[in-house]
Amino acid sequence: MRGVLLAGGTGSRLWPLTRITNKHLLPIYDRPMVQWSIEALVNAGVTELMLVTGGTHAGEFLRLLGNGHEFGIDRLSYGYQEHPGGIAEALGLAERFADGEAIIVMLADNVVERSIRPMVDAFEKDPTGARILLTEVREPEHLRHLGVPEIDAEGRVVRILEKPEEPPSNFGVTGIYCYDAGVFDVIKRLAPSGRGELEITDVNNHYVRQKTMRYDVLDGFWGDAGESIDAYYAVNDFVRSYGANKA
Ligand code: DAU
Repeated sequence: MRGVLLAGGTGSRLWPLTRITNKHLLPIYDRPMVQWSIEALVNAGVTELMLVTGGTHAGEFLRLLGNGHEFGIDRLSYGYQEHPGGIAEALGLAERFADGEAIIVMLADNVVERSIRPMVDAFEKDPTGARILLTEVREPEHLRHLGVPEIDAEGRVVRILEKPEEPPSNFGVTGIYCYDAGVFDVIKRLAPSGRGELEITDVNNHYVRQKTMRYDVLDGFWGDAGESIDAYYAVNDFVRSYGANKA
């Protein structure tokens, strides 16, 4: 399956570090952050990848990744997001790259301990609708910084709330998503949210309403290294001690 890696945005929660570079180029243990998500996607079987970024440091990705062959990617494409208009807007730039096929999407500040291959395999068996990867999160304060699904008694997601004051479950939506090719039409119909962005949670809620959203629950550690400076160091500490992207 083709992969799309999103590495735009402002990284404002990590200022002033991100005034001088792109967030996804900051180190996580012994390599730039973006390399961990590339490894996760390649281990899950992705060989054709589009990296979408923006801002004034976009050229550094080319210097780091080149044609991608060193990282196990056969065909690496780049997309440039003119303004940080949201995760869904950045994804919309991959329409021609996807070329009518299903895709796996990952936010380049996400780091996982274990392989995401089970989710990709499950989606490839039936590549219709969408699939999200959830992680158990015990602290309500942490859930207030994430997308959080409301899950009914039958175990179905009934809606997803973005950064809810009152989290409706103990699961966070990670930044790892599978979509069928219809996702680009969904994005075209979105309206900007209160913060002026096209929200990935609105895309996901479309699939929830269509009853074509499925989910897996991730095994092992998950971190969003861009969430805060403390999260950035927590992800660094974890990866340094235990590694990432294990089978
Ligand atoms: O990490 C998981 C969370 O990611 C989910 O639980 C939330 O539902 C989802 O909305 C998202 O929340 P964040 O607040 O972490 O999103 P953030 O604005 O930090 O963007 C995450 C990544 O998306 C960022 O590292 C790069 C990419 N991005 C973001 C924006 C706003 C872009 O490529 N372009 C953009 O314009």
